[in-house]
Amino acid sequence: MEEISLCIMTRELCQELYRDWKNDPAIYMDMDKFEPYHYNEAVVDRYFDSRQSPSRVLFAIMKDSKPIGELQLKQIDRERKECTLSIHLQNDSVKGHGYGTAAEKLALKYAFDTLGMNAVNADTVIKNTRSQHVLEKIGFKYIEEKGDFKYYRFDR
Ligand SMILES: CC(C)(COP(=O)(O)OP(=O)(O)OC[C@H]1O[C@@H](n2cnc3c(N)ncnc32)[C@H](O)[C@@H]1OP(=O)(O)O)[C@@H](O)C(=O)NCCC(=O)NCCS
Repeated sequence: MEEISLCIMTRELCQELYRDWKNDPAIYMDMDKFEPYHYNEAVVDRYFDSRQSPSRVLFAIMKDSKPIGELQLKQIDRERKECTLSIHLQNDSVKGHGYGTAAEKLALKYAFDTLGMNAVNADTVIKNTRSQHVLEKIGFKYIEEKGDFKYYRFDR
């Protein structure tokens, strides 16, 4: 889907993204930990700062020049040439339109072509069947279930 692109997250994009953010219950195995999201500019600033690291690339998923989600390639290990993908779209209005699938495909390309990785890992809580479906659809292999999580891997 060409209408989606990834761009490196900036502080401004991060603020714009989180102003209309909703936490998704699908990522909480323990619903006692789920809380509706409340936007706070200072908290988003701190979040953005905390995500700046040589072992992580934080992307904004862009559609029509607006951020509609974030995607991270994290735990980047340049010796073992592997990293871990995580993704969260902004709210329900942008889910279920193929954007997550498109963004994950672009992230794999970036991990292999730009970062020179040989493998990308991902994990989801067991109940998050939508995320599992998307990972499997684009070619991630299911590895194992451990604790509350299912683990996946895409080898180049
Ligand atoms: C998971 C997420 C990134 C997927 O992105 P998306 O744009 O909503 O998904 P897409 O529209 O690209 O694809 C959804 C696919 O899952 C399928 N699907 C939808 N609900 C499903 C469910 N409950 N169980 C299994 N498959 C499901 C759809 O049919 C579609 O598959 P298809 O293309 O084969 O028809 C997005 O929904 C999201 O951000 N969710 C909240 C955070 C999250 O779960 N992040 C992942 C943490 S590991």
